[in-house]
Amino acid sequence: MRYVLFLLLPFYLYATSSFITPMEYSSSLYKNPRGIGCNHCHGESGEGKLVATYIHKGEKKSFGGPAINNINFDKFFKALNIRKTGMPKYFLTKREIQALYFYLQEKDKKSSSNGE
Ligand code: HEC
Repeated sequence: MRYVLFLLLPFYLYATSSFITPMEYSSSLYKNPRGIGCNHCHGESGEGKLVATYIHKGEKKSFGGPAINNINFDKFFKALNIRKTGMPKYFLTKREIQALYFYLQEKDKKSSSNGE
């Protein structure tokens, strides 16, 4: 956890000095990251989402994004910098990737504090 806070510190300082809150900034980036929004394939909170099912050569197939709210920052960062099958390539700065990660952690905190 300490490690995550350390990584997010520069982003936090940056985001808190502007008019919108870090959560507002990172939420809008998640939904509109200079390309198709992450939410379309990974769900609103990064919980994973089934996008489509189809038949290919007589076999039932499905397409969707895996859950991304349960992985560490290292894995998250790497995934956004290599080519993934089924996922568009984004050109995000480190700070933007940190913001996206921050968003998913905050969302996750909220959903698990709902008494579930
Ligand atoms: C068109 C659908 C689509 C969109 C949009 C999309 N992804 Fe993905 N993403 C995928 C698929 C499919 C995979 C699984 C690829 C694989 O297994 O090789 C994936 C994998 C990932 C992984 C790796 C997960 C793991 O466990 O290794 C991360 C992290 C990720 N996406 C983050 C994002 C973020 C952040 C955004 C928005 C900037 C985004 N994705 C937008 C489809 C999408």
